[in-house]
Formats: sequence, C-alpha cells, structure tokens
Amino acid sequence: MISKETIDKIFSTARVEEVISDFINLKKSGSNYKGLSPFVDEKTPSFMVSPSKQIWKDFSSGKGGNVVTFIMEQEHYTYPEALRYLAKKYNIEIEEDSKELSDSQKELQLNKESLYQLSEVANEYFQNQLWKTEEGNTIGISYFRERSIRDDIIKQFQLGYSPKEWDSFTHFAYEKGYKKEILEQSGLSIFKEGSDKGFDRFRERVLFPIHSFSGRVLGFGGRILQNNAKTAKYVNSPESEIYHKSQVLYGLFHAKSFIIKEDNCYLVEGYMDVISLYQNGIKNVVASSGTSLTVEQIRLIKRLTNNITVLYDGDQAGIKASFRSIDMILEQEMNVKVLLFPDGEDPDSFARKHSADEIEAFFKENSKDFIQFKTDVLLKETNGDPIKKAGLIRDIVGSIALIKNLIQKEIYVKECSRILDISEQVLFSELAQLTQPNIHSRDRNTRKQVALKPVTTSQQEEIDFTYKIEEDILELMLSYGDHEILINYVEEEEPYKTTVIEEIVHRLKEDDLQFTVDFYNRIYLEIMEGIEKNQLRTGEYFVKSKEVDITEFAVGKLLKKYSISNNWELKEIYVPTLEQNLAKNTKDVILKYKAIRIAEMNKNLAKELSSGNISEERRLEIFNQIITLDKLLKQIHKLENRVI
Ligand code: GTP
Ligand code: MN
Repeated sequence: MISKETIDKIFSTARVEEVISDFINLKKSGSNYKGLSPFVDEKTPSFMVSPSKQIWKDFSSGKGGNVVTFIMEQEHYTYPEALRYLAKKYNIEIEEDSKELSDSQKELQLNKESLYQLSEVANEYFQNQLWKTEEGNTIGISYFRERSIRDDIIKQFQLGYSPKEWDSFTHFAYEKGYKKEILEQSGLSIFKEGSDKGFDRFRERVLFPIHSFSGRVLGFGGRILQNNAKTAKYVNSPESEIYHKSQVLYGLFHAKSFIIKEDNCYLVEGYMDVISLYQNGIKNVVASSGTSLTVEQIRLIKRLTNNITVLYDGDQAGIKASFRSIDMILEQEMNVKVLLFPDGEDPDSFARKHSADEIEAFFKENSKDFIQFKTDVLLKETNGDPIKKAGLIRDIVGSIALIKNLIQKEIYVKECSRILDISEQVLFSELAQLTQPNIHSRDRNTRKQVALKPVTTSQQEEIDFTYKIEEDILELMLSYGDHEILINYVEEEEPYKTTVIEEIVHRLKEDDLQFTVDFYNRIYLEIMEGIEKNQLRTGEYFVKSKEVDITEFAVGKLLKKYSISNNWELKEIYVPTLEQNLAKNTKDVILKYKAIRIAEMNKNLAKELSSGNISEERRLEIFNQIITLDKLLKQIHKLENRVI
C-alpha cells in the first residue's frame, strides 16, 4: 500500500493542467492515441479544467475528477497504478505504508520490490544475450528469423535469449549482489537442496518476458529451439509473489491502446500467436498462455472493452474449452464472439500466410456470436435426434441465462428462436426456470433485475423524491458543509452556532436516519466518520477520493457551486441563493427529509396492518407507532410553518 503521506504529496505536487496537456501533445503528435472525446481543446469547451480547484470535467461524457482519476480514465489504470504513474512523472519517491504494515508485511513488500528489480535486470540480460553475443545471434536471432519475426517486433516485445551454459545468468546475478533466496523465488535460478550453487532455469531457449498491465516484467516464458519430444516445449517462470499466472495476460501491455481503439480484444492461446498477429496488423490481441481462461483475466480485459473474440483452432478439445470460456465471459457481462480457424491452421500460421487486409476481412466474416457458434457446433452432434436437440437447447439457454442485461438477453432469445426454430415463448419459460432460484439472492446484479419491474407512477414519484432530497442534503454538505450557521427551530429559542455538516449529521442521527440510496449513504458515512475525527469533509475532501464515482459526484457539486463560464479557466462566480440563506436551507431540507421518511414508515406500517395475518399484540404496537409518528409529523410540519 502506498503511504498516506506519499498520496498527499502526489496530490499536492501533480498539476492536473500539466498532466492533461501531456495528453493533448500526445494527441497532436499524431500517435494513434484515443482519449476522452471530444478532447481537451480551446475549441471544445465541453472539457473543463480548473487549475485552481485541480479538477476536470468532460461534459460530453459526464465524467470528471481529479488528477489521479484523469490518469485512471486515460490509461485505464487502477488507483495505485495511476498514483505510481504520477509519482514517476513528478519524481516522487513512493513510500509504502509502513506504519500500518506489520513487520512481516514490510518484509513482503521489500521482497516484492527485489523481485521486480531482478526481473527487470534479467530482462535486460536476456536481450543483451540475444543481440550482443555470438551465440545469441547464431541461435536466437536465427530462430526468430526462421519464424519471420521482424527485428522491430523482437525489440518491442523485448524477446531475449538464454545461453547454453548452465549458470550464466545465476552467475551474473550473484555478481550484481542478488542473494540466493531472491534468485530462487524468482524461479530464474534453481538450487539443489542445501546448496548455494544454483543453475539457470532457462537455458538455450528464446525468451518471452511477461509484462503486467502497466508494463513491469513479472516473469518469462522460454521456448526450446527445436521441437524435441524429450523436453517441454515451453518452460515458464513459476508462480511467485509478483507473478500469478491466472491474473496475467500475455501481450496485454502492448495491446492495451489498440483494444481500446478497436473496442474489441482477440484472445488466443500462445505467445507466438500474439506476436505473429501483432506483427501482421492485428494488435488488439492477448493470450492466456496455456492456462485455461480465468475470471481475473477477463476482468483485465473488461477494463478496456466489453467485447472479446475468442480465437480457436478447430480441434475438438479446443472447442469444448471454448464453451467454458464463453460462459465465463458472459458471466462478466461482456459480449463474446468466437472465431474458428480452418483445419490445420492456428492464428500464427494463418497470420503469416495472409496480408493484414485479408486477415481483417477473414476475422470480420468468420467471427460468430456465441449462439451461432454453439448451435453450429452442437447441431452437428445431434444429427436430427430430438432428445439431443432438447439437450442442446437447454445448453444454449443455460448460457443465455448467464447474461445479466435484460435487453441483451431478449435479443439472444430472439436469435436463438430464429436459428433453432423454436418459439420464443418456450425459450423464455426455459429461461425462467433457470433464473428463478436466483431472484432472492442478495447479489447486486440480481437486485438490478428485480428493480426493472414496472413501477406505478405514484411509487416512482415517491422514490424520486426521497432520492432527490438526499442529493440536496449532500449538495449542501459538500458545497457549504464547513460554513458556520446560526440556527434555531423555534423562534422563542436562542439560535445556536454550528456548521452545516454538524447540524445535518446531528439531526439525522437524532432519529437514527441514514440515506436510502446506497451511493449517497457511502458518502454520508464518510462524512460521519470525519466528524469523529474532527474533520468537516466537504467537496474538496471528496474530490480526492479513491473511488471514482464519489470523485465524480463531488466534482459535479463543486462545479455547480462555482458556476462555469465558457472559458478554459473557471471563473469563480458567487452563487448567492443557496449560500445566503444557509441556515434556513439547512433547516428546511432536514425537516423535509424527516417528514418524507416518517410518511414512508407510516405507510409501511399501514401496509402491514392491512395485510391481515398479524397478531393482536402487533396490531396494537403498530397503532401506537403510527400515532407517535403522526405526532412527530405534525410537529415537523409546524416547524416548517405549514398549515395543515
Ligand atoms: P509455437 O509452438 O512456437 O508456435 O508456440 P505457441 O506459442 O503457438 O504455443 P502453443 O500453441 O503450442 O501453446 C500455447 C501456449 O501454451 C504456449 O504459448 C505456452 O504458453 C503454453 N505451452 C505450450 N507448450 C507448453 C509446455 O510444454 N509447457 C508449458 N508450461 N506451457 C506450454
Ligand atoms: Mn503456435
């Protein structure tokens, strides 16, 4: 974990306008960079940057935030990745949070850092061996030439060569001061038990460094030079503290920007498939490298696009494996297509035989959506047997059931109905049977589905109302939360001095109220936590939140506070209304909110009463509660100066 001090330092050093102009220059220099659209430009006032507030907002997409979230948006980085990027740009040394870490955690952190460092050193070493030694040239380079890989691609992917000698790298690393433990953990060296004499894991192989999402070297895959049945074709780095093969995709670092640009990711099996396709113009390609696809890997892709096309060579094992991958991708709410190669071809061989245009055309023409693909494959197996066909239908409906988006689901049901010539009705009822048991689960996505049920207008209005007031309350706290107010609820009483945040929190706590909208409540809980720490957490605080949706919300409120002129820089225009009557506004919104929540409680109690099957005891209890709430409501209305 990056320490709080470092994060503060990054926020106080990094300038949002500087970072953003970096990206404009990148765009102007004609790289195939694709950023937020329309991009920051004097001529596109839909993008705003405020150097004084250190925030930005893209009105065309509704996104906005601080300097860190800008990098997260642009590079599709996680929060810590974005912080590291900025630290590097501004030469800020990253301190890991040592206060909160135990000694063993600190050690782990140091250990990880050494592993990263060693991997980088090894990566350089293997490339030097390839390019700068006789052995590397005659064996390594000629291997790549034989497979028609161009020099620029070898360099871009940082391919390397490990010499025949049994301990050349181990020796080199020892000289550089690396210890046995770290060499062993990295898997680059192997030690006999109890011995300090190590030998190299990779010998006489061409090497493919495996990069993380942000480009750090995590490990290597090493291929033998002749297909020789006696040893494994590939040797890979073992799992370590920095290399978890289920969480890595080969080629992702290089493919990243192209995946965004094409809004699609091709998924292949091997290192060579990635490199060969990339060299031949299909650059949005990654490989799961021999392991079967994992959820973590799919999520890495989802940071960049919602579309995956799975490339398979047509053998039977490959097809069955593809079914599992398809379902996993659907479960992540992504769209999946499948592309099957002609017999005897794989992505690598195919790419080498065809021009970029031909490859693209072939991919476009032969990518099938998963329903088409599954039915094609399975129909061949059924041979007209009705029982087998029923099984097929169930199989496909099973996949459709995994899709969470209702509209998407319906589209697929229609397609399935058309292809298999079955009525939509039958498919929907099959689907209903499969999805039924989930309806009561607490899964967030299931709840989303339930919420899609049509609501009557009066219900709708009521929901909107509560939600709107909650937003109003938050707006007051984020915009003016630290302002002092003099407030009293009854004229006869002396007004007392407090702050907007304290008043609101105090009044809501008094009645045990929290917000009904999850998102608003998250912010509210943080504000409450602030009070316990003697902080008044206003918009300026939340703009630096590490949760992007909160940052975005806070930016929206701050921008509203300082109304926006059409210029590059925001002019801080005073907005009198809300602020002038701050005490009154605070009081009004609290009372209004309480009234609404009480009315809501009353209605629920009434509903329970009318439901019939309740005990006499409970009935009395409810009556009493309703009477109390009614009294409370009358008081509130009186305070609101309303005539009832
Ligand atoms: P080429 O045979 O050079 O075309 O390599 P490739 O990258 O196309 O590999 P292939 O399609 O044969 O296998 C797909 C992936 O599975 C490889 O890229 C490796 O990640 C992995 N793999 C293949 N063979 C082995 C092996 O013997 N051991 C291990 N650990 N992994 C392997
Ligand atoms: Mn291959």
